[in-house]
Amino acid sequence: MNEVQKNNRPLLHITGERGWINDPNGLVVFNGEYHVFFQYYPHDTKWGPMHWGHVKSKDLQHWEYLPTALYPDEKEMCFSGSAIVWQDRLWLMYTGHTENEGGDTVVEQQCLASSTDGVFFKKHGVVIGKDLLPTDYLIKDFRDPKVFRHGELFYCIVAAKHRTGKGRILLFTSKDLFKWEFLNDVFGVDGQGTMTECPDYNPAVQMIAYSQQFAPQCGIEHCNVHSTYYCFGGFDRNGEFVSDGEHSIVDYGFDFYAPQTFETEPIMIAWLNMWDRDNPSEQYGFSGQLTIARRLSRRDGRLYQVPVFEGIQVAEKCNFTHLNDTFTVGKITLDLQGLNGLSIKLRRKGESYASFDLQDGQWVFNRSKCGKQIAVSETDEDSVNGIRRMPVVGGEKTHIEIVSDLYSLEIFADGLAMSSLVYPSHDADGLEIVVDAETCIYKKFEI
Ligand code: FRU
Repeated sequence: MNEVQKNNRPLLHITGERGWINDPNGLVVFNGEYHVFFQYYPHDTKWGPMHWGHVKSKDLQHWEYLPTALYPDEKEMCFSGSAIVWQDRLWLMYTGHTENEGGDTVVEQQCLASSTDGVFFKKHGVVIGKDLLPTDYLIKDFRDPKVFRHGELFYCIVAAKHRTGKGRILLFTSKDLFKWEFLNDVFGVDGQGTMTECPDYNPAVQMIAYSQQFAPQCGIEHCNVHSTYYCFGGFDRNGEFVSDGEHSIVDYGFDFYAPQTFETEPIMIAWLNMWDRDNPSEQYGFSGQLTIARRLSRRDGRLYQVPVFEGIQVAEKCNFTHLNDTFTVGKITLDLQGLNGLSIKLRRKGESYASFDLQDGQWVFNRSKCGKQIAVSETDEDSVNGIRRMPVVGGEKTHIEIVSDLYSLEIFADGLAMSSLVYPSHDADGLEIVVDAETCIYKKFEI
């Protein structure tokens, strides 16, 4: 990495050591450390034959690079998947993607690899192959295994596509990770999008999450070409998913896809990016980063997300109507009571800034004036104007947390989240808050 590349890396977020990354893979705690893998192409800032990159951390904030965990071979790329610890080994389940002549000749099957030291992995080959895929599903769209345990058994959900329709999620079970059986199509109906990707199940919050490509836009929910949804519930004896609560979108921002959770903890990390967009960071030698880790819980029937960020408190101010500060990398929180109006300008330099405002009973984020613009493939008015909206769900009290890094803003308002990339200059460090509330407390944290 040269000096320019080094100085332009996000400070709080996982990126590849070089080149391109997309989905987080294999989130797992092994020997007391958090391991995160990711879809990785080190040789270019564009997507290419997929490897699994690898980082680990003790605190989910400071990440250490480890050697690339999985390499593609001449025939097969290593697409997304998950990890589990069993019999003192770290096991990876991933999709072996064979392109052949493309189109209908593509073959996707689920493969296994393992490691005793959590660094070097041995491939064991296909374990959920095309022979286990019921005939009504397409072999070319069968990917992204997420493995978890229940009692004595392993379960694995895999994204699939029904011959007649769209995205589905299939459930398999195994006693030993090598020999698997098909259980069921968990929803039994088509998803909205052309394909479902990266299903995730978190046993701690009992929640399934999945991403969908090209689902139709709908109100202020899933405005992006590709969006991620969650649904609370669990699997019955037949392997059908039984919902017991909210079914909604995970993140309202521009850049959030393919999240995964740790099996043993309700913590989620996603790709802080989106397909079909340009990546201004290519000029600095990287494309793609992962979101900050977020702790999940259920609150008032909804998914409640808070960023995992332990910083040092460097500022505090109470009961103001107008505040000017500086804020580039770190976290701010606002606790408000009796809120009537709020307007926040972030990463400000003169007339360049991103805004987060309360407007007509909605949260409105706008990045259209914030530095270098990002071309999007969405054509609706909000997308073209750099806008994303989010419902206001707090009652008398409002709690806001904003995590800012060189090229991203992740905003959490009463547990709802909106994550977006922004490309202001590094010296765009102005923060301005105008508030109309009975009481307010502002705090700023840095690393
Ligand atoms: C989701 C995805 C996965 C696939 C991977 C390939 O972003 O399309 O379905 O496994 O990316 O890199």
